[in-house]
This record gives sequence, structure tokens and C-alpha cells, in this order.
Amino acid sequence: MGILREDTTEPKEGLQNPGARTETPQKRGLFPTLTEVISYVRARLAKHPTPETPIMQKTPVTPEERKPQKETSDSKPPFAYPLEDIPEGEDGINWILQHREEVFPFVQKEIQFDNGGAPSPSKFCAKAVADHSNFIAEQGYAHYSVTKQKIQQAREEAGKLLGADSSEIAFKQNTVEGLRTVAERFNWQKGDKVVVLKKDKEYASNFSPWEDLKRLGVELVEVGDENGHVTVAQVAEALKQNPRMVALSSIGWKTGQRVDLEAVGQLIKDHNEQNSGPKTRFCVDGIQGLGIHPIDVKKANIDFLSAGGSKWLMAGSGKGIFYCSKDAMGEMRTTGLGASSLKDFTKPDSGAKENASVFEDGTNNYESIVGLGEAIRLANKLGQKNLERRVIELSNYLVQQLEAKGFKVFSPRNNPKEKSGIVLFGKPEWDTPEKVSATHNSLMDTKGNTVKPIWMSLRDGKIRACVSYYNTKEEIDELIGRLDVAA
Ligand SMILES: Cc1ncc(COP(=O)(O)O)c(C=O)c1O
Repeated sequence: MGILREDTTEPKEGLQNPGARTETPQKRGLFPTLTEVISYVRARLAKHPTPETPIMQKTPVTPEERKPQKETSDSKPPFAYPLEDIPEGEDGINWILQHREEVFPFVQKEIQFDNGGAPSPSKFCAKAVADHSNFIAEQGYAHYSVTKQKIQQAREEAGKLLGADSSEIAFKQNTVEGLRTVAERFNWQKGDKVVVLKKDKEYASNFSPWEDLKRLGVELVEVGDENGHVTVAQVAEALKQNPRMVALSSIGWKTGQRVDLEAVGQLIKDHNEQNSGPKTRFCVDGIQGLGIHPIDVKKANIDFLSAGGSKWLMAGSGKGIFYCSKDAMGEMRTTGLGASSLKDFTKPDSGAKENASVFEDGTNNYESIVGLGEAIRLANKLGQKNLERRVIELSNYLVQQLEAKGFKVFSPRNNPKEKSGIVLFGKPEWDTPEKVSATHNSLMDTKGNTVKPIWMSLRDGKIRACVSYYNTKEEIDELIGRLDVAA
């Protein structure tokens, strides 16, 4: 980002305020019809060509006009919905469900229940990446001032998502890069302890960076039962060993258990108030669920959080959010970083930046950050509470249907605070790995292109179905119907 800091080029007219307009269907308080959205887009394009819209110079067409066209990627008309025109909150979710095949075109080809894996990004995100990449190609160095604004907007959206200040946000490539930053840069002392979920139940990205600290004489305190379920009481017990760090995942990737982060954060706060000496810090791997299940870092007393954008945020691969609280920043080493971490990248002695972007190190992938920013903006616009409500409703329906067909659900579903969109299930008859994979494989089979593949994952001899807000009850019915035959 050093170049960004130095650049003084102003954006061209019309690029500084891409969203400028006077009236939207939303402002009028009416649910916009497709025709309204299209005529608004046409009018807006005529008035304000923007960096987001270079490929929209052609007149947009309605989906009805599109239907007779041959469905090749070359002939598809551009995605024609600017995010700022989509209604907010529940109305926005309903709008997306009505335009599901346009916002998430992959649903035409597959039933995606692997949202805890690597679902495709939304068209809002994909278009933002493609448009910004084209914008850079077309504008040359003049793109820097717009890019800088967009990265700042993405930082603000990420701050809003987490209840943090934008100065506490950095962009890293993925979850492990953020967690490793904490492990490598925290001010460890020999004999320090880190509380982690037991190794065979935690995802390696949130175990290996801590395990690696053993070389410095740091010890691990493992929590969680034999199923990978971790309770607040277990963390309270572990706190008696006065650890320097509690490093937990917000949702278990093998259990679907949502950890009560606010309860754990309160325990750590109380512990710190009652004990003198260095504080116990709270580090969260938030990738499973962030964007759907709200996390407020201040309410939960979280010091560090890392979450790739590739799962529930549906922001594509290779870019994620890293949060470092202002308070914890003082315990992080900021020497030995890259030029972009310096106050002046041309001056090695200019000192480290005093905000979280100090952890961005070097030249960044601007297009991906712009795409991640758009994906976070969508989540903020729809509202994580609304998204979570829908996901819980859909996952409740899935659990109900599975149990009605005799499947055993392993994910915790009794305590509302522990429920998530991740549901692990199995059958007593699936007593060998081959039997589980046979069922799993048959659901991915398209039966000679007559049915859509149903994507899910296998975890510890169970099938893991991850439902997100854009999934439907009809897709769940299809899964249950096909499971009934396959299992
Ligand atoms: C708990 C958890 N952390 C992290 C990741 C992904 O890590 P990364 O973003 O470093 O690839 C996963 C993916 O399944 C996960 O379940």
C-alpha cells in the first residue's frame, strides 16, 4: 500500500461519488420491481458512468428478454443490479431470494450445502472484482486514488460487521495468515499457555500456529470433549492456569457448535480484573459463520479475530479480515514487517504504522479486497441478525426432516446459543467409512445430468450439511428425498 499513500492523482469526474443520485425505489419506500430497477440503472448509467459499471455500457435487458438466448458464458448479459439499490434488511433478503438465480447463478447448476467449505461468491462480489480489475487495466496509475478509497470503504464495512473501528482492521489472505500473525508477533514469554480446542477436533489453521509456539516454551491447554464440544465451564476451568491466550473458533467445523463468545469473553474479562500481571487475551477464528452469525468484538472482549472471506461471507478465495484491538496492539511486535507496514514506505526508519494495517506487510491484492468489501457490504445491508434468523429457520427445518427420516443429528440443537447453519448427521447403519462415502458420493452424482449435484462434506464419518440464507426449503426437500433413496 506504499504506492497508495504516495499517490496524489484525483479520480476522474464521476468516479468520486459513484453512488450519487437523487431518488431510488428504496427511498420512496416501495419494493422496487425489476422494471423499476432496470429503468433506474439505465438513467443512472446515462448520467453517471462509474468505475463499477464499465461493462454495463450496453443497455441492460430483462431476464425475460434473456431467456431465449443460448446460455453460454459469452452471451450472458451483465449482472445489472447495483448493490446500493437493493433494499435493506429482511426486504433485501426477500429481494435476493426472488433474484436468486441472478445473484447466485451457480444455484442453477448445483445444490450447495457446503457453505462451510468453499461456496462461490455472489455476483455482487464477483462483479466488483472484475469491474475493479478492468478499471485498473483501463486507468493506469490514475486508479490508485479510487482504489485507496475503496479499500478504506472495505475497512469501514469490516469494522461495522464486527463492531470495531476501521483502524483495527487489516486484510490478510486467509484465516491462518491472521492467526499466524498473532502467534508470531505476540509478546510471548517462556511458560506462557494457550487454550485451544483439542487437536483432532480443531481445524489446523487454528491449531498449528499455536502448536508451533512450543519451540518458544509456550504450552497448550486443550479443552473440549471427545466430540469436540467446548463449554464455557471448560474454559473457566482452563483459565485457572492463567493462560496468555484463549484461541477458539467461533463455530466448530466438525460439530457445528456455536461457541458462546460473549460468555467466554466475560470470563476472560473477569479473570483479568481479578489477576495482576499480563492480561489473558482472546483470539477468535471466525471463518465458520462470519457474515451470518453476528460477532461483536467489543461485547465479547475479543482482542484478535481472523476470518477468511471464502465461506459464509461468500467473498471468493484469497482475502480475509484480521482484527487487532487497539488495546492488544501494544503487545504485538511491529518490527521486521514489510515496507507497506511503515509510515513511509520509502524510509526504512520511518517507524511502523500505528493501526492494524501495519500487519498488511507488502503489496496487496486490491481487486480481491474490493470484492471482499462488497461481500461485507451486502452482509451489513441485509443485517447479520436477519441472516442468522433465516439460517436457523432453514437449519431447524433440515434437522426436523432428517430426524423424521431416522437420521441422527450430531450438532447441538437444544441450546439456541449453540445452533448454527452447520449440521452434522449420520445413520447407525453407516458403520464403515465406505458406507458414508457411498451415500455422500451418490448425492453428488448428477445421474446423467438429470439432477443437480448436492454438495456437502464428510467429517469424522458423518455428513456435514451447511445451509446458508440463499438456500431454500425446496433444496432441503430435494436433499431429504434423495437421501431417503441413497442411505
Ligand atoms: C475453523 C476453521 N478455520 C479456518 C478454516 C480455513 O482456514 P484458511 O482460511 O486459513 O484456509 C476453516 C475451513 O474449513 C475452518 O473450518
